[in-house]
Amino acid sequence: MTSDYRYQQLENWLLQGIQQQRWRLGERLPSIRNLCREQNLSKATVQHALQRLEAQGAVEARPKAGYFVTFQPSVVKQPVSRVSIEAPRPVNVSDLLLDIMRRSAAFDLLPDLHAGDLPPGIVALNRAIGRSLRRQRGDDFQYYDEPAGDVGLREQLSMHHARRGWAVPPDQLCTTSGCQHALFLALMACCERGDVVAVESPGFYGVLQLLEQLELRVVEVPTSVANGMDIDALEEVLARWQVKACIVSPAFATPGGALMSVEAKQRLLTLAEYHDLAVIEDDIYADTALGPVPDPLKALDAGNRVILCSSFSKSLSRDLRLGWVSGARWHDRILHLKLVTQLASSRYLQQGVADFMADGSYTAHLRRQRNELRARRDRLIASLHAWSAELRVSVPMGGLAVWVELPPNVDTLASYPKALEQGVVITPGPLFSVSGQFKNCLRISYAHPWDERRVAALNRLPRLFVSRSSD
Ligand SMILES: Cc1ncc(COP(=O)(O)O)c(C=O)c1O
Repeated sequence: MTSDYRYQQLENWLLQGIQQQRWRLGERLPSIRNLCREQNLSKATVQHALQRLEAQGAVEARPKAGYFVTFQPSVVKQPVSRVSIEAPRPVNVSDLLLDIMRRSAAFDLLPDLHAGDLPPGIVALNRAIGRSLRRQRGDDFQYYDEPAGDVGLREQLSMHHARRGWAVPPDQLCTTSGCQHALFLALMACCERGDVVAVESPGFYGVLQLLEQLELRVVEVPTSVANGMDIDALEEVLARWQVKACIVSPAFATPGGALMSVEAKQRLLTLAEYHDLAVIEDDIYADTALGPVPDPLKALDAGNRVILCSSFSKSLSRDLRLGWVSGARWHDRILHLKLVTQLASSRYLQQGVADFMADGSYTAHLRRQRNELRARRDRLIASLHAWSAELRVSVPMGGLAVWVELPPNVDTLASYPKALEQGVVITPGPLFSVSGQFKNCLRISYAHPWDERRVAALNRLPRLFVSRSSD
């Protein structure tokens, strides 16, 4: 395919070189100056091509060092397993999930490690919260915060979202105890017992737990770990059954980090309008983007039917237990439900986080974290690729995990106890579906640094997998 623009020609040439391994994973591309000279191009053209490659995740810019190859897209095979569309059913979530959560191991192979120094962003966060605590006066501690949450934090969140193309007034936001709480409020506000909810499959197990608890029925929509929910499949589901709500994560869905295109998001909203569907957007991974942060689905929500749920758990700290929800037409009901389920959020915590955002510390933290996460992701993918070039692995541009498809005879559920005997906790594929599928799949997180012990645990995994024929 020929390209008219010189930056595109250069971009294609560089991409081809990366795919043919002229420049391998981790190697530096020729400098901007050399590319200008050798290709007879202006500096602006070369920079534009490199920035586009960076946005695709093929290279990363390292300050004062140049552009480095992050992964070779062509050599990593993408997962292909898909669920088939089945009638809505009640949810019965596996006890295994409870076991994993009890070990606080959903995002770590070695949950007891707790190693390493505090990142500078967390040090700054702790200081901001400490200052907020010290500001407490008189009998402040005797009062509940208003149900919507601290207005200073909501203002900061409003500005944060405006930078992503979504102008939300602070009075349309309500703070919550994490994103799980936000999702709970959203489902309670727009569904009643027995209603059918469409979910991504594979998708987030926490949503399945909520659906079980609220006695809602689930219909799984086949979802690609590269591009997100299959909108053709959703259309088929909506034509066959009466669905009340649909939960999606357009930005870096767990387990594989899928990113939905703007066209898919628009089609989803058109369908939602036609079928009068509530859409619950789980936006928790947006700030873990390795490239540009995508606009939320909510930014396109002309019908006021998208409830956006998010939190700081993935971008800053899980331990804050601080999230938010923008409830669209269900906003007042959500405020009421927040009052019923939590009364109020901690004021000093919210004010500390608001200060942390206001002085630019959050943005600086995200910038540093982005570089870290990219390096960790690449290291993980390179290790997995070294197990076998046949392994299928998602290559996410955000999120904290990859989805791995092992040979079809591997049973990751049966492998769980064997791995546990060796002190390793795995997150088997069937947890991400209600239909028991994805037995040969696994989610592996890169949320933590790959120190020696984690690398050793990762490399032990192939010997711990149990084949399906043995059960
Ligand atoms: C997609 C997704 N949504 C929501 C949550 C819950 O987040 P929180 O810790 O903010 O409750 C998680 C946590 O793993 C998640 O992965």
